[in-house]
Amino acid sequence: MKQTVLTGIKCTGTPHVGNYLGAIAPAIARADMADASSYFFLADYHALNQIKDARELQQSVREIACTFLACGLDPKRTVFYRQSDVPEVFELSTILGNMTPKGLMNRAHSYKAAVQKNTDAGRDVDDDVNIGLYTYPILMAADILIMGTNFVPVGQDQKQHIEMTADIAKSFNAVFGNTFTIPKEIIREDVAIIPGLDGRKMSKSYNNTIPLFCSSAELLKLIKRIETDSSAPTDPKPTDHMIFQLYKHFAGTEMNNKIGWGDAKQKLFDTMDKFITPMRDKYNHLMANYHEVEKILDDGAARARVVARDMIDRVRQCLK
Ligand code: TRP
Repeated sequence: MKQTVLTGIKCTGTPHVGNYLGAIAPAIARADMADASSYFFLADYHALNQIKDARELQQSVREIACTFLACGLDPKRTVFYRQSDVPEVFELSTILGNMTPKGLMNRAHSYKAAVQKNTDAGRDVDDDVNIGLYTYPILMAADILIMGTNFVPVGQDQKQHIEMTADIAKSFNAVFGNTFTIPKEIIREDVAIIPGLDGRKMSKSYNNTIPLFCSSAELLKLIKRIETDSSAPTDPKPTDHMIFQLYKHFAGTEMNNKIGWGDAKQKLFDTMDKFITPMRDKYNHLMANYHEVEKILDDGAARARVVARDMIDRVRQCLK
């Protein structure tokens, strides 16, 4: 039987170059893998636990949906849908909550990190922690189990969630009969750490990102802002500098390091801009014509719901 591969992306923030190289491009490559049923969804309700501004979620969902399509996700080969369009997921999540020991959720990394932060700050342990954050892994288990998923390609930070999903599935199966496939994570081992504008890992929390689809002019401005030293143009430059690292990712070859910083920046810009421009054009088109994306997502949801409905019916059968 065909294997099922599924992954989701939490809809927060605007995708940046680090997301593209570290997660988006590998996820698309994986989704397009031949010979598997492939599902890719926008985890919009997973983002709810951290949304503080009503417009933020909608904007992020749109940007992420358009980004994946612009970067080449093929919605014919991959069922591409929005989590919130598949209500069966939430019914299953409610059921699975009852098979999930509270202690298991206490051990979830992100909840533990929130508790630690509060403890360090001398606040109540659960300060600013909502139930959505606490039960995040249960909703994720529902996402995965409802499609009969065999494999879940994710980053290392999500490994624990997949293991929890397997535990929850086994608990259900033990009591109600063999219903769920036990999923396994596929961890991307070879992900490079993409440096940001200050040389540290590119991350929104360091405020050092290059938005993937900023304009050419903005891209040039950001690249010019990258910090360099005062060495002479003819001095060999350190090849671990982010300019050389980023260049390598986009050009696929090394840049000769006997080059002035100004020229190196120009070369990096030319290469990145050439690489990104066709995708940016497509992205801008989709953002301006979002109804095209909505149609793709509606179609994806319809396909996803056929499978989800089937699973929910089986689960309900077990509970009767
Ligand atoms: N938690 C994942 C992340 O933050 C997103 C996600 C939600 C997911 N549900 C999923 C990933 C199911 C894989 C499978 O990136």
